[in-house]
Amino acid sequence: MSPGLASVDDFSHNQFRYIEDPFPFYALMRERSPARLSGTIFGGTWLMFRYADCARLMQDERLSNARSAVPLRFLPPEQREEFADMLDIYGRWLAFHDGTEHTRNRRQANRGYVPFTDAYLEPRIQALVDGLLDRLDPTGFDLISEFAFPLPAMVIADVLGVPVEAHADLNRWTDDIAHLFGSTSVSVEHLRRTRESTRQLADFLASEDNARRSRAEGGLLHQLREIEVRGHRFSERDVVAQAALLLFAGVASIRYLIGNSVHALDAVSPADRELLLHPGTARPAVEELLRVCTPVSFVGRVAAEDFEYTASDGTAVPLREGQPLLLYVASANRDPEVFERPDELVLDRPLPNRHLTFGVGRHLCFGDPLVRQTTRIALSSLYRRWPGLHVPPQEANWNNNLGFHGFTSLRVTGEAPEHRR
Ligand code: HEM
Repeated sequence: MSPGLASVDDFSHNQFRYIEDPFPFYALMRERSPARLSGTIFGGTWLMFRYADCARLMQDERLSNARSAVPLRFLPPEQREEFADMLDIYGRWLAFHDGTEHTRNRRQANRGYVPFTDAYLEPRIQALVDGLLDRLDPTGFDLISEFAFPLPAMVIADVLGVPVEAHADLNRWTDDIAHLFGSTSVSVEHLRRTRESTRQLADFLASEDNARRSRAEGGLLHQLREIEVRGHRFSERDVVAQAALLLFAGVASIRYLIGNSVHALDAVSPADRELLLHPGTARPAVEELLRVCTPVSFVGRVAAEDFEYTASDGTAVPLREGQPLLLYVASANRDPEVFERPDELVLDRPLPNRHLTFGVGRHLCFGDPLVRQTTRIALSSLYRRWPGLHVPPQEANWNNNLGFHGFTSLRVTGEAPEHRR
């Protein structure tokens, strides 16, 4: 069914028809109603669909990132108390800080990340990728559960200096958190499960064993404890929270990016896919996959004060302090005002590719080099090993929220289909 403007009132991140193919809806909104108030999402949220508005608002200092409690708005205040320990962790995330507090915490985390250069990470990520690929049966395997699911958790665990064997738990815990922040409505049962997952993740990151291991490995978990910038150190609770943020931010997003990319690359000839195999051409190809296949559909903000924003089409957007906005990067990335042939995957699209997949401004994704490197190594290794890798026709299984957009299973085969041989 093609979308109508009226459908914005039932638009949600948890409805299958939007999850399956949100792009016609985004196109319609960009053209006809690029700044739109949804009365249903979080009790009144402005949704922005054009590149110009998304990019501008991501950098607007009248908006705040202090939005850790937005998904709990539907609860009466006394019931929110039940989730205070969980919100305490999220409230410490540097992603949800503004101004000088954000600058200080980001600088501090950045300093801890200094040893993790591309050159240091390259052989480590390659070894994890090869280890997973060696176990696959090229006649048919589930790309997600057998490759894209374990890999990102293993990579980030390795960076943190905690056991990569914990990948299944890390995926489970962070998926519950991703569902909370990617959805537009969650149940109390889900909140309770997420509180438990957050507690288990925090206990894992705080454990003596993992502290010792990370210290011995020179891992980021240890660096976060040790780094002092201008006399400031993270408290133990802050260390655990920032490490949990890195896992939450990176695990599901890289997983879905790999799945979405393999799905999109299925429509591309093996000769074009070779672009991924060579350093010079892989860079623009990965940027284009980031643009078209972004797993993160939106970036959230809340108004820090009452003010009126004028959208790119002239719509007046009156904002009340505390009111949420959702800025749809997945829509911005296909805005014809910015990109030629916006819906096409053009693997040699010239750089710079101005996609908003990692945001823009002071909150630009902290993990973008790790994402680019992991994605390049994962995809080039897959297609180098099996140049004819393809996705046979099948029912797709999607993650159940649009915030983290991607497949939960995707069967592929390493053998070329008959017509391509
Ligand atoms: C495909 C993968 C990823 C995508 C699409 C993505 C996307 C984003 C976006 C759009 C933002 C900006 C949010 C804003 O403006 O409020 C962001 C922030 C952030 N990302 Fe990522 N991310 C990915 C992977 C990762 C990884 C692997 C890590 C770390 C290991 C990471 C850590 C962070 C952190 C810490 C922030 C907050 C930065 C700040 O507020 O200063 N992300 N990410």
